[in-house]
Amino acid sequence: MTSAKRHADLPASPAEVAFVGRSNVGKSSLINALANQRQLARVSNTPGRTQLINLFAHPGGGTLVDLPGYGYAAVPGREKAGWQAMIEGYLLEREPLDLVLVLVDGEIGPTKLDSQMLHWLRANEVPHAVVATKSDKVRPSKRPGRRQQLAASCGLEEGDIFWVSSTKRTGLDVLERTLNGLLTTG
Ligand code: GTP
Ligand code: MG
Repeated sequence: MTSAKRHADLPASPAEVAFVGRSNVGKSSLINALANQRQLARVSNTPGRTQLINLFAHPGGGTLVDLPGYGYAAVPGREKAGWQAMIEGYLLEREPLDLVLVLVDGEIGPTKLDSQMLHWLRANEVPHAVVATKSDKVRPSKRPGRRQQLAASCGLEEGDIFWVSSTKRTGLDVLERTLNGLLTTG
């Protein structure tokens, strides 16, 4: 794993998929689960821990990118603006970036900041998809309704959303296939 403070400092990569989402949504847990290797990304109970752009090598040759979580209120204004500039710069200017996965808490649905992020990605024509995390926290009987609701509030079709649980390791295979397709190069 390498990490960088500015996207201009990132090493070259043939293909990248980036994970964005608010702090605590489960980005690092998902990357860990996908890597099937504990301790690859730092997982913590403290929002805002992942403050650098962290890169993880995909076996296919591409790169998984764990971006800093947005929307952590306790971060001072100046630092927050710095994060935003870094994330926006990366999302707009990073050439090998193929797909942005926007992580949304499956139990609570998109927050205001998630909706702003989706709107911003759409407006800037950055390819993206939504991953609903922590599906294990939604009672099985509630899942069909929840899927419909969450898709509608993201302005997407139900089929456009990956549902995953990193703790129960469900839904990972479908996401894995998409990543393999994008990140297998050469
Ligand atoms: P930052 O790095 O602070 O931006 O957070 P993050 O998005 O990387 O979240 P992280 O993976 O550290 O997970 C935050 C909390 O959610 C931790 O307590 C995890 O154990 C929990 N969590 C993550 N994924 C799941 C899941 O699939 N199910 C459940 N029940 N809890 C989860
Ligand atoms: Mg993290």
